[in-house]
Amino acid sequence: MLRNSMQAWGAIAKTLHWSMLALFLVQIPLGWAAVSWRLSPLKIDLFVWHKSTGILLLALATIRIAWRLANPPPPSVDGLPRWEQRAGAASHAALYVLIVSIPMSGWVINSAANIPLNVFWLFPLPDITAPDKALADIAARVHFGLYVALSVLVCLHIGAALRHHFVRRNNILVRMLPGRWS
Ligand code: HEM
Ligand code: HEM
Repeated sequence: MLRNSMQAWGAIAKTLHWSMLALFLVQIPLGWAAVSWRLSPLKIDLFVWHKSTGILLLALATIRIAWRLANPPPPSVDGLPRWEQRAGAASHAALYVLIVSIPMSGWVINSAANIPLNVFWLFPLPDITAPDKALADIAARVHFGLYVALSVLVCLHIGAALRHHFVRRNNILVRMLPGRWS
């Protein structure tokens, strides 16, 4: 089942959700290496991997949002209080904003710092701003702040998923797991 149904997320939404999680788990250590290691050829390669994976995540986020708009999600489960439904919707919206704004801020750093990037060593990334050192510094701070916000929100998101499963005992987690269709 490619599309979402009334009971569960479809294969496309699930594949995008879990493959993006896997990429984020690689992307974040690459970002730490990019800021903390001393300059070396390996560090420069890891930086290209970080930026390229970030652009891939931006492309996947765009596809994911388009698919979400074209394909309504499964409805909320029975008996969920209104505040929890609203908190879920608000935090999901914030996650969507972050998975677009984090790579966009990285792209601004790269453009403003005037560093040419060949995405996965395959094609050049166009600049989205003119060279501007002050803007590059601000974008780097924004990039870091958004990453911290994402980390906090993902912890809450995982906590909420586990709470639904083990405390409320509803099927919100199960219907997002691979291979479960109902
Ligand atoms: C979803 C995607 C991304 C995530 C989760 C992410 C995460 C991170 C993290 C954790 C760091 C180290 C902490 C810090 O900001 O100082 C970092 C640094 C950095 N990232 Fe990303 N990043 C993403 C996408 C991108 C993209 C697409 C680019 C460029 C095209 C990029 C360029 C940079 C740069 C230049 C730095 C170093 C900033 C500095 O010097 O302070 N990032 N990123
Ligand atoms: C172990 C990690 C994770 C678990 C267990 C998890 C679990 C879930 C579950 C169960 C849902 C479905 C909620 C529902 O049916 O109402 C969901 C949706 C969602 N997840 Fe995650 N998730 C994880 C990681 C992430 C990460 C890292 C991100 C983004 C960076 C993310 C972004 C989202 C978004 C945006 C939705 C909303 C889907 C929609 O309403 O269109 N998740 N997640």
